[in-house]
Amino acid sequence: MRNKQTEIIKGFSKLSKAGKQEWLINNYCENPEKSLSLLLSYNHDNEQIQKLHDEFIENTVSNFFMPFGVAPNFVINGKIKCIPLAIEESSVVAAAAKAASFWAERGGFKCKILGKEKIGHVHFIWRGANPQDLLDLFEKKKHKFIQETEKLTANMRKRGGGMLSLEMIDKTAWEPNYYQLEAKFDTCDSMGANFINSVLEELSKVLQQEVMETQVLAESERKVEVIMCILSNFTPNCLVRSEVSCPVEELAMEGISGDVFAEKFINAIHVAEVEPYRAVTHNKGIMNGVDSVIIATGNDFRAVEACVHAYAAKDGRYRSLTHATVANGVFRFWIDIPLSLGTVGGITKLHPMVKFAHEILGNPNANELMEIVAAAGLAQNFSALRSLVTTGIQKGHMKMHLMNILNQLEATDEEKVSIVNYFKDKIVSHAAATEVFCKMRGIEIPVNQSKK
Ligand code: MEV
Repeated sequence: MRNKQTEIIKGFSKLSKAGKQEWLINNYCENPEKSLSLLLSYNHDNEQIQKLHDEFIENTVSNFFMPFGVAPNFVINGKIKCIPLAIEESSVVAAAAKAASFWAERGGFKCKILGKEKIGHVHFIWRGANPQDLLDLFEKKKHKFIQETEKLTANMRKRGGGMLSLEMIDKTAWEPNYYQLEAKFDTCDSMGANFINSVLEELSKVLQQEVMETQVLAESERKVEVIMCILSNFTPNCLVRSEVSCPVEELAMEGISGDVFAEKFINAIHVAEVEPYRAVTHNKGIMNGVDSVIIATGNDFRAVEACVHAYAAKDGRYRSLTHATVANGVFRFWIDIPLSLGTVGGITKLHPMVKFAHEILGNPNANELMEIVAAAGLAQNFSALRSLVTTGIQKGHMKMHLMNILNQLEATDEEKVSIVNYFKDKIVSHAAATEVFCKMRGIEIPVNQSKK
C-alpha cells in the first residue's frame, strides 16, 4: 500500500473538495488517476443533490451508494405497507418480503406503542457533606428549573410533548460526589436529541446558579462542577411491540407439520433467550431489518443499535429480543424493541431518497414509523429462524449471494442467467459457482478457489 503522507496536514477541512480529493489520491492511492476517476464517478450529476451530500458532513470527497430495496405486502395494523430498506446484504430484503407475504395471509403484524419516553442527564459533581441537603434544595427550587426551560419547551408543548419529569438523583454510591439531574421527555415526532440537549444545558445553568446563590448550604458547598449535559440513547421506555399469531396448523411448511415447526421455532427462541452467543446472532438478524429501514428513513441507526443491545442485556444477561409461545393451539411470536425515531428533523426532510422512503410509507408519524421498523425486525427474525430450523440458512443465503460471486468473477449477463438457472435445484457455494463458471468459459479452475 502506498502512503506518502509523512507530516500532519493542517487545515485539511478548509481545502476545496477538489483539493481534498487531490491530496487524498496523491498521498494514499496506488493509481491516483484511476482513484480520482472512481471518486468522481460516484458524484451525482445533479449539482443541487451533490451539494446537499457534500454539506451533510465535513471533508466529503465522494458518495457511498447502498442498494435501496422494498419489501411489499407488509400488513401492519390492518394497513398494507411497502417497506423501504437500504442494505448491502444479499438476502435481507428477500427475507423481509417472504415473511411479509406469509403473515399477510395470517392477519398481518399487530403493533402498538408501549412508551414514548426519552431521557437525558446533567451529570455533575457536588462535594458537599450531606447529599440530602442538595436534594432538599432541588425540591424547593424545582419550579424554577422548569420555569427557566419553558422558553425552550414551548413549541414542543404546543405539539403535545415537552419535559415529562425532572429529578435530582444521588449517585454517590456509584462514584464519590456524583449526582444527576434526570429529565424525561416526550419529543413527539422528532428524535429529539437537539431539543433534549438544549434543555439540559439550560438546566445545568440554573443548577449552578441556584447552588451558588443559596443560603441553605454552607458557603464551601455552594458550587457544582458540571461534567456534561447529554441525552441518553438508552431509551428502554420508548418501546414498541410487534406481534404475529396464527393457529399452529397454519405453520405447516417445508414438509413439516405446524406442530413440529412451532416446536422447533420455540426451541430456537429459547436458545437465544438463555445463550448470549446465540442471542447476539439472533438479534443481529433482527437488526438486519431494523437498521435497513432506519437508514432508508434517515434515522440514526448507531443510536438504535446501542440502545437495543443495552435493552437486550437489561436483566444482566444478553438475551433474545423476540419471544414465542403456543397456547390453546395458537402460535404467537413477538418483539418488544426500544426505538427512538423521528419523522421530522435531522435529514428526514433533506435527503431526497429519505423523503421518498417516507412518501412510500405514507409519511408516517414517529409512532407509526416505530411500528413499521419493529415489524421489519420481527419479519427478519421469522425468516431467519424459519430457514435455520428447516432447510438451514445457507440454501437461501447462498442463492442470494450467487450474484455477488458472479459479479466478482466478472460474468456476463448471459453467463449469469445460465448459472443462476443451473443452481436452481443445487446448493450454491463459492467453489461450485467458480467451477461452473470456469467450465462454461472453458478456462482453468483456479487452484485456490475452493478456499474462498
Ligand atoms: C445473517 O445476517 C443473520 C442470521 O445469522 C440471523 C440468525 O442467525 O438468526 C441469519
